[in-house]
Amino acid sequence: MENNKFYITTPIYYPSGNWHIGHCYTTVVCDALARFNRMLKKDVFFLTGTDEHGQKIEKKAQEKGLTPIEFINPLVSGLKDIWKELDISYDKFIRTTDDYHVKAVQSIFKKLYDKGEIYKSTYEGWYCTPCESFWTESQLVDGKCPDCGRPVQKGKEESYFFRLSKYADKILKLYEDNPEFLQPKSRVNEMVNNFIKPGLQDLCVSRTTIKWGIPVTFDEKHTVYVWVDALTNYITALGFGTENDELYKKYWPANVQMVGKEIVRFHTIIWPAILMALDIPMPEKVYGHGWLLIGGDKLSKSKGENIKTEITDPKELVDRYGCDALRYFLLREIPFGNDGVYTNESLLKRINGDLSNDLGNLVSRTTAMINQYFGGELPAPTEYTSLDNEVIALANGTLSSVKSYIDAIDVPTALGEIFKLVQRANKYIDETEPWKISKLPEMRERLQTVMYVLSECIRISAILLKPFITKAPDKILAFYKIDGTLENTFDNAYFGVLKPGVMVEKATPVFPRIDVNKEIQEIEKMMVERHKKAVQEKKETEKVEEKLPDISIDDFFKTQLKVALVKNCETIEKSNKLYKLTLSLGDEERTVASGLRKYYTPEELIGKKVILVANLKPAKLCGVLSEGMVLCAERGDKVVLISPETDMPEGSVVG
Ligand code: MSP
Repeated sequence: MENNKFYITTPIYYPSGNWHIGHCYTTVVCDALARFNRMLKKDVFFLTGTDEHGQKIEKKAQEKGLTPIEFINPLVSGLKDIWKELDISYDKFIRTTDDYHVKAVQSIFKKLYDKGEIYKSTYEGWYCTPCESFWTESQLVDGKCPDCGRPVQKGKEESYFFRLSKYADKILKLYEDNPEFLQPKSRVNEMVNNFIKPGLQDLCVSRTTIKWGIPVTFDEKHTVYVWVDALTNYITALGFGTENDELYKKYWPANVQMVGKEIVRFHTIIWPAILMALDIPMPEKVYGHGWLLIGGDKLSKSKGENIKTEITDPKELVDRYGCDALRYFLLREIPFGNDGVYTNESLLKRINGDLSNDLGNLVSRTTAMINQYFGGELPAPTEYTSLDNEVIALANGTLSSVKSYIDAIDVPTALGEIFKLVQRANKYIDETEPWKISKLPEMRERLQTVMYVLSECIRISAILLKPFITKAPDKILAFYKIDGTLENTFDNAYFGVLKPGVMVEKATPVFPRIDVNKEIQEIEKMMVERHKKAVQEKKETEKVEEKLPDISIDDFFKTQLKVALVKNCETIEKSNKLYKLTLSLGDEERTVASGLRKYYTPEELIGKKVILVANLKPAKLCGVLSEGMVLCAERGDKVVLISPETDMPEGSVVG
C-alpha cells in the first residue's frame, strides 16, 4: 500500500498581519491537489504551518511592545481563519515554536555536528548595526544594507557552518538522475547556472546576534539559522527526531513540495543537502510556482495620488464573492509555473465568464427545462445520435484527462478540461434546441435524451470540480435529488450512472452575475475612502510620536506630578473609551477621566498607585470634570500605567 500515500506540503508562512490574495496561492493549489488525491482514494497527508523565528519577528514584536509569542499568536490565528474561509483541508498545521519541533531541530543540529557536517568558524561579512544583520558583499544594495539602506561596517561573528560546498556535485547528479525532482524544468537551469556552477559556499547556520530562535543545545549563545529551522518542519511535523515517528515512516519522502519561485533555491539546494547529510531520501518533486502580481494601481482623479484600488484581503474577497470564486480564480487564472496579474476586474471576469455564464447557466437552463417539460422528473434516454455520442465520449474522457494534467501539476489546464465539458454541454443545448423540439410531440423521446445527456454532463462536471471548488458542486448535485445510494465519487464520474426518474429541483443561481462596471466603481470609491482614512490616522500617530523641542528644567518643573491611589473606577456611559477614576492624593480626592478602558478592567485599576499630572487645567470630558491626567507608557497597541517602583504614600511628589 506504500505507493498509495500522498504527502504534500506548502511552505510555512511568516506571520504577517497583511495576508493578501497572493499568499493564498500556494496553499489553495496544494489543497486542490490534496483533495484530488483523496478522491483518488489515496492516503493523503497535507501539511502547512507558520515559520515563526528570526530577527524580523523579534523586532516587530519589540516595536509593538510585545513579546515575540504575544505578537505572533494572533497572527497565526488570523492565518488559520483565512484557511478556514478558503476551505483548506490541511491534515496538520505546524508552528516552528511548537515544542516538539524545537526539540527535533536541536537534535538534528547536534546530529549534523556530531557527524562533522557542521563545524565552528568565523563569519565575516558586512554588518548593519541598526538591523543587527550580517550581509555578504553580493547581498548589499549599492554597498548599503538591503533592508534599511543604511551604511554597513565590516564585522566578524563566531558561527557554525554547514558543509554545503561538498554537496554541489551530488545535487547536480540529483537533478540529472531525477528529471521530475525540480519543476517546472526552467527552474533547473536557474539553480544550476545562478547558484551551483558559480560555486556553493558553506552555509552559516547559527547566529549569536539573533535571540529569537532555537538555541543550539551544546553552545547556547547560538541560535539555529531560521532556514534550517524552517526547512526541517517537513520532517519534524511527521515526528522525525521524536519518540513517535510513525507518520514520518509512513509518509516521507514527500510526493509534492510546492513553493513560490523565490524560495526554490532553499528547497532544491539547501534542503536536499541537509537531507543527504542526514541520510534521508529526497522528496519526489519540488514545484516552484510563479507569483500572483497585484496589479492595477490606479490614480485617484481627485488628488492625482497613487492609490491601491485592488481588494487584496482574502477574507474580504471571500465575504464579497464567496470561497469558490476566489479558489477558482487562483487555480485557473495563472498558467501554472508563470506569473499572473490580479486585478478586481480579472477576478470579476472569471466569476461572470466561467462560473456564472458557463457553469451556472448550464445548471439553471437544464434544471428549468426538466421542470418545464417533465414536471421535474428526469426522463429516460432513448436512442443516442452521433452528436450525443460525441458529448458522451467527452464526458467519459474528462476524468482521465483531468487526472493526467493533475499528475503533471498543471492545475489550470486540468480545470480547463472540466470547463471544456461544461462549454460543450452549453453548445449542445444550442445545437439540439430543446425549446423547439419541446413543441413537437413526435420529438418527445429526443427531448428526453437531450435532458438526460445534459444532466449527466452536469453531474460529472460537478463531481470533477469538487477538489477545486468546495461549495458549488455539492449545491449543484443536490438539485438532482438522488437517493443516498449514488456517491459523488470519481468511480461515478462516468456517463449513464444517474437513474431516470429522480426528481430535479429548479436551480437557484449558483453564481449570480455581477454588474462589473458598477462593482468596480463601488470598490474604487470604497478604497479611496479607506486610503484617505489611513492617511489621516497616520498623520495623527506621527503627531503623537513627533520629536518635541528641548525644554528647560524650569519648564519641566511647571508640571506637578504626584502619586495617587485609584479608589474607584466606573465606565462613562457617553464614551466608549473613558473611565471615571476616583483618585486619592492623601489629603484630597480627585476625579479624572482616563482612556484606559481598552487596556484595563476596573478590578485591575482599583487599588493601584499611579502618577497623576496634578496641576493640569480641569476640563469637561463626556460630561465629567477631569482634574488631571494619569501617566502611561505607550507603544503601538500597548498601553501600560506608570506606577512607583515600590510603595509610596499617596500625595508624594514626583520629580
Ligand atoms: N517562511 C518562508 C518559507 C519557509 S518554508 C520552509 C516564506 N514564507 S512567506 O510567508 O513569505 O511565503 C509563503 C508562500 O507564499 C511562498 O510560497 C511564497 O512564494 C508565497 N507567496 C507570497 N506572496 C505571493 C504572491 N504574490 N504570489 C504567489 N505566491 C506568493 O517564504
